[in-house]
Amino acid sequence: MKEEKFLTLGIETSCDETAIAVLADGRTVLSNVISSQIDIFKKYGGVVPEIASRHHLENINGVLDEALTEAGVTLDDIDLIGVTDGPGLVGALLMGVSTAKALAFAKDIPLVGAHHLMSHISANYIEYPELEPPFMALITSGGHTEIVRVDDYCHCEVLGGTRDDAVGEACDKVARVLGLGYPGGPKIDKIATEGNPEAIHFKRVYLEKDSFDFSFSGLKTSVLNYVNQEKQAGREINRADVAASFQEAVMDVVADKALQAVKQTGMKKLVMAGGVAANSRLRTKLSELCRRRGIDLYRPRPGLCTDNGAMVACAAYYKYKSGQTGSLEMDASPSMPL
Ligand code: KG4
Ligand code: ZN
Repeated sequence: MKEEKFLTLGIETSCDETAIAVLADGRTVLSNVISSQIDIFKKYGGVVPEIASRHHLENINGVLDEALTEAGVTLDDIDLIGVTDGPGLVGALLMGVSTAKALAFAKDIPLVGAHHLMSHISANYIEYPELEPPFMALITSGGHTEIVRVDDYCHCEVLGGTRDDAVGEACDKVARVLGLGYPGGPKIDKIATEGNPEAIHFKRVYLEKDSFDFSFSGLKTSVLNYVNQEKQAGREINRADVAASFQEAVMDVVADKALQAVKQTGMKKLVMAGGVAANSRLRTKLSELCRRRGIDLYRPRPGLCTDNGAMVACAAYYKYKSGQTGSLEMDASPSMPL
């Protein structure tokens, strides 16, 4: 007799993507539907929280229907519902959490809250079916930059994080200064391929020796000062060179610190996670460094790096399997710690 698959529905609404997926046995994607609000926020140059919440509300039922249909299942087949309950924009999170609670209540399905960063890490379990903890994870997203030692599916220790801007946030702000539009990270990535990363020297900020913390606000200001200086002097700015030089400065520090953490802890595996893990320069840089040092590098495909429901379903699956369940009292926690 054919063995029944365990089906998890994953719901993600922490920022500007309304995303729902169905996973079989925690790692096999049956559907992964993402409704992005990028086009709406282009004209604002960034996410407007209230507008994001409203769009989640408008989109979520349609995204749910599509995710179930694509997976060829109905709600009655779902064994577990996982939802991002933090960190993120509170109003946006609440749309996912309320939907998940309503479905769990109506259909009597177990409910688990997933931490957004654990979900980003979990994208790697989907991409690499053989991957198991422990490993080192480098999380770089719009809201976070963290180096984390992942001990098992549900536990990790933060070794360092940003003291000001996250990498994605810095990319988005620099893109705005250069007039590249929103979202800035992918635009910087693209235009940087046409520029010279050595054209302008931006200082690499490593903070204290042996620190795994980051600071990007100084670098962001240096780019702004450079652009203003050039404008005042009446010189034309080569946007590709500025983007490439900025990107190189950021990714040098991020890659060096991640490698240092791997070395210091004696780990053999490094996992990339979060939206900025889609950055082509960071991917190449880390893959070269890891190859030279005999470290196995794990990089989810770009579509699994940015926000999606599949990673949420995966994180929720492992939480549930470890005996943790949520309740209908669950709330959104905008600044939930790891
Ligand atoms: O993980 P994510 O989808 O949302 C958060 O949890 O924040 O990450 C979004 C961030 C944005 O700042 C976006 O500009 C950045 O990831 N990003 C990139 C690239 N793709 C997305 N940054 C650099 N290069 C990329 N290719
Ligand atoms: Zn994210």
